[in-house]
Amino acid sequence: MATALKIAPPEDKISNFVSRTHRILINGKWVEAASGKTFATYNPATGEVLARVAEGDREDIDRAVKAARAAFETGRWSQLTPSERGRAIWKLADLLEENLEEFAELESLDNGKPLKVARVADVPLAVDLFRYFAGWATKIEGNTIPISVPYAAGAKFLAYTLREPVGVVGQIIPWNFPLLMAAWKLGPALATGNTVVLKPAEQTPLTALRLGELFQEAGFPDGVVNIVPGYGETAGAALAAHPGVDKIAFTGSTEVGKLILQAAAGNLKKVSLELGGKSPNVVFADVDLEDAIAGAASAIFFNHGQCCCAGSRLYVENSIFDKVVEGVAEHANKINVGSGQDEATDMGPLVSAEQLNRVCGYLESGISEGAKAVVGGGRHGDKGYFVKPTVLVNTTEKMKVVQEEIFGPVVTAIPFSDPAELVTQANDTVYGLAAGIWTRDIQKAHRLASQLRAGTVWINCYNIFDAALPFGGYKQSGWGREMGHEVLEQYTEVKAVCTAL
Ligand code: NAI
Ligand code: MG
Repeated sequence: MATALKIAPPEDKISNFVSRTHRILINGKWVEAASGKTFATYNPATGEVLARVAEGDREDIDRAVKAARAAFETGRWSQLTPSERGRAIWKLADLLEENLEEFAELESLDNGKPLKVARVADVPLAVDLFRYFAGWATKIEGNTIPISVPYAAGAKFLAYTLREPVGVVGQIIPWNFPLLMAAWKLGPALATGNTVVLKPAEQTPLTALRLGELFQEAGFPDGVVNIVPGYGETAGAALAAHPGVDKIAFTGSTEVGKLILQAAAGNLKKVSLELGGKSPNVVFADVDLEDAIAGAASAIFFNHGQCCCAGSRLYVENSIFDKVVEGVAEHANKINVGSGQDEATDMGPLVSAEQLNRVCGYLESGISEGAKAVVGGGRHGDKGYFVKPTVLVNTTEKMKVVQEEIFGPVVTAIPFSDPAELVTQANDTVYGLAAGIWTRDIQKAHRLASQLRAGTVWINCYNIFDAALPFGGYKQSGWGREMGHEVLEQYTEVKAVCTAL
């Protein structure tokens, strides 16, 4: 494995792939959009067109759903033995690992994130995710259940449950971790025997399309994985509403999550949602300052703050507030902002002009309402979509910058003194995705962990992800969990079988 990681693909392999006009994967074939239309994906470091991609729409979604349905009904995937399914997913993971450097480069080009980060985080996590779910393929079990049946005195029954695939699954993913989000979605769906139509984000379709080629190379039967790039309002909406889809899994904004829910109502398809966040990160005065400061900085600045779980509200106990703010600002100052392709870069551009405008809009709104930027506070440079890592102080609970998800490298630092008030403040959000706690006092840590209304609580760490650890949100951060064995519930139906003996 170590050697595979080190071999860089020839430059032209990547540029050949990127410069291709990309197509749609339906039923094992790469096809043009029914409309013949294409759209551009941009290099966010320069704003230049990176590649042209077939623009999937309603008709393409319909064809993809029919292909997935046929693949499901014939059982060419669900009727393989669990071991065969597991091995196919494992093979896919091996291929992804063999092509790690190429995927890291594609991800960095398309999304803007530093190549050195994609190389150690995005791609290895995706590889690991597929391996974890390859293992689950042989462990999807039901139960035998002793039953009593009060109105059938003396009768004997054998009752058991089966876990069966839901059927055709539509998956809509965002642009912040394009490959990893594809893996989070595809791994459990495939391990449990479903067939899939995946719509990548229009900003970052490239790694999902390359992954489609690896599914073919790994020998997945035609129609099991269909990949339709296109816009949310067209292709995404058509997938969410399609009557031939049994389940829709979505990651993205809370606003679109609600639209997905409405669209799903037509045939009452199952829905799972992984939505926004405004996660509190709480630092108590007893901490190891250096660790907590570094942790607080990376909680918000990792992936340029484009993380649904970003530690964007930093609550610091009064007596160390100034020191922590100063320390996080120092970290921010040392962040090397630049093109993700440059090995010296720590933080790349935001993904798009739209996100640049959105984040700068929040900065302006906060500052006009009286917040102060200790560091950063605006755009970085005048080319590409870069924003300066920013620490805001003097905020109030009502400000938009404290209440709404900014999805950029912007943290609001807020002092606290009363732990009971802190709990109320930390939970004063419509979201409930994640939270961080920094303290050496284990009682304090676990007490607060139980009081925070969030799907993930990190204690003395932040942004720790593992395929085995469930992830998802309370409140408006979503429905259901991703990863771990928890996600298997989202992709299986339970059948109770009862036999009179
Ligand atoms: P979005 O929610 O619009 O996009 C996410 C995915 O949903 C993309 O694949 C998009 O094509 C699709 N989509 C958009 N509209 C749709 C519709 N009507 N029906 C079906 N699918 C649709 O997010 P966007 O506009 O890219 O970013 C806006 C904000 O959303 C960000 O600033 C951030 O706050 C939040 N966001 C949260 C993410 C998370 O991981 N929870 C990821 C991306 C964005
Ligand atoms: Mg949108």
